[in-house]
Amino acid sequence: CGIIAHVGDGRALDPLVTGLEKLEYRGYDSAGIAVKNGTGLDVWKCSGQVSDLKETIANVESEARIGIGHTRWSTHGPPTDENAHPHTDQTDRVAAVHNGIIENYEALKAKLIDEGYEFTSDTDTEVIPNLVDYYLERGNEPLAAFQHTVNELEGSYAIAVVVDENDSIYAARQGSPLVLGVEANTYFLASDVPAFLDHTDNVVYLEDGDTIEVRADGVNIVDDNDQSVQREVEQVDWQPDETGKGQYDHFMLKEIHTQPTSLRKTIEGRVDLDSGSTDLDIESDLSEVETVHLVGCGTSYHAALFAACLLNRCGLSARAIRASEYDLTAGTPSNNTLFVAVTQSGETADTLSALRRANDVGLDTLAVTNVVQSTVAREADEPLYIRAGPEIGVAATKTFSSQAAMLTLLSQHLARVNQYASRVNNIEALLSDLTDLPDAVEGVLQSSNATRLAEKYLDENAYFFIGRGLGCSVAKEGALKFKEITYEHAEGFASGELKHGPLALVTDRTPVFAVCADDSSKTVTNAKEAQTRGAPIIAVSTSDHSIVDTADDHLSIPDMHPVCSNLLANVQLQLLSYYCATELGRAIDKPRNLAKSVTVE
Ligand code: G6P
Repeated sequence: CGIIAHVGDGRALDPLVTGLEKLEYRGYDSAGIAVKNGTGLDVWKCSGQVSDLKETIANVESEARIGIGHTRWSTHGPPTDENAHPHTDQTDRVAAVHNGIIENYEALKAKLIDEGYEFTSDTDTEVIPNLVDYYLERGNEPLAAFQHTVNELEGSYAIAVVVDENDSIYAARQGSPLVLGVEANTYFLASDVPAFLDHTDNVVYLEDGDTIEVRADGVNIVDDNDQSVQREVEQVDWQPDETGKGQYDHFMLKEIHTQPTSLRKTIEGRVDLDSGSTDLDIESDLSEVETVHLVGCGTSYHAALFAACLLNRCGLSARAIRASEYDLTAGTPSNNTLFVAVTQSGETADTLSALRRANDVGLDTLAVTNVVQSTVAREADEPLYIRAGPEIGVAATKTFSSQAAMLTLLSQHLARVNQYASRVNNIEALLSDLTDLPDAVEGVLQSSNATRLAEKYLDENAYFFIGRGLGCSVAKEGALKFKEITYEHAEGFASGELKHGPLALVTDRTPVFAVCADDSSKTVTNAKEAQTRGAPIIAVSTSDHSIVDTADDHLSIPDMHPVCSNLLANVQLQLLSYYCATELGRAIDKPRNLAKSVTVE
């Protein structure tokens, strides 16, 4: 979910709505706003997207200067008007928006029901405005009533509250992101910076345990020791135009096409071609690392798989582990294990929980992430920022490329400083090709025939993606992208696994995309096994690769170091998914049931 709050000297409704539009990537099954009018609170909310909310308030003339808003990804209760935020107490004097989960809400709800409170939604959030009311009724000032409420909550939350009796916003952060934007006498609170980047790039990153009162004449931040604290105002270097669609129909297409730029930013200043080495500015001593755990979810997990393959080639024992499985499958890591959290948002609850576990057992921890000062970035020993710029499309594209590039640099750093590692063959060629990768991506974007293939292979029964080594992680990522945005059944396999089960599904209606960007002679054999059973084969390879002779179709990539050619194969598959989804008329930037950043386990 995404939350926003605004306090200023102009109309609040407009920045709240545009803020919600920028936060929609965090959830888009219902939306709502509450503002303070002269005498009370006005609340508008509905199931559906922010565009539906906009229709609801199209004729509203509100001069309110203070308000809160929410865009939802359902956890407790289906996406209905009643379950949409903001939630109010029964007298509508308090309204609250919330991201996260209140774990003890059932006990709190029972206590309030005993006190005569009535509830109208299935959500955990509804206890918050009612608890604030409960404390107001007992003579507390609004700030104290809010603080008493927060003290009763267990779980993870970012909360913003308005009450009808003064001109403040009250907010708190515990385990879910909340940032403050500051511009003269205008303040924003939001789950993420893009929500207010059109208005200000001055940001205060709140800490877990902070509560904050925001008024037009200033803010008061109180930490978890009940002390008023000053927190540094930082300037973010994201540009407002980075959060718009520009000339593109969708954020996803824009983000695919900005990969040359985002990759250049990832690599900039981190490669020294003269000495053939990396310059990552890592302070941790990684010379004794024996094992590397790369941990992430979704696309980030695929970047972790890519890197694990590369690190194993450097002689280090590396495992990619799905964050949600970390507690059950990581075993007891030795002290010489390096934990690398891979996460675009830096807020994914599964990844955060795995990181906390690694920190608890004393492992060295790094965070490969896109979002500066995100929770994972702050809780790891050191962040390694991929600098890809804001990614709004729910399906990750440019950040996968940048994560893989960053992890490639990390693998070479480890290979250099680590006594157990061996340098990969041809590191100079790898680093030189990596520097050329942005231009090569540009070339693939210009010459790709993915549009034609998307039309040709539309409306099949299922889509299979196969590859080996680095190509296996690209095949899995290709399938994930495809299913996320086309809603078609797609699976990615290690090429050799096809014959151990999935082949039973193969017919002439199951195209097989074969990623042949590395050691791929066995993939050619496996593709032929599927072709013999009728499946069309689409090779993703260089033009002179042997598979092209037998394949039914071809997505071409230049001949580069396998790290780069596999990432180029991935770009071709991104385009294929995008154009298939366009043909099918899917909600490309906001696929059904998904959210970009999932902050619950
Ligand atoms: C969600 C998104 C995926 C994303 C995953 C991990 O499930 O829908 O696209 O890959 O989270 O997100 P992260 O921010 O940790 O990379």
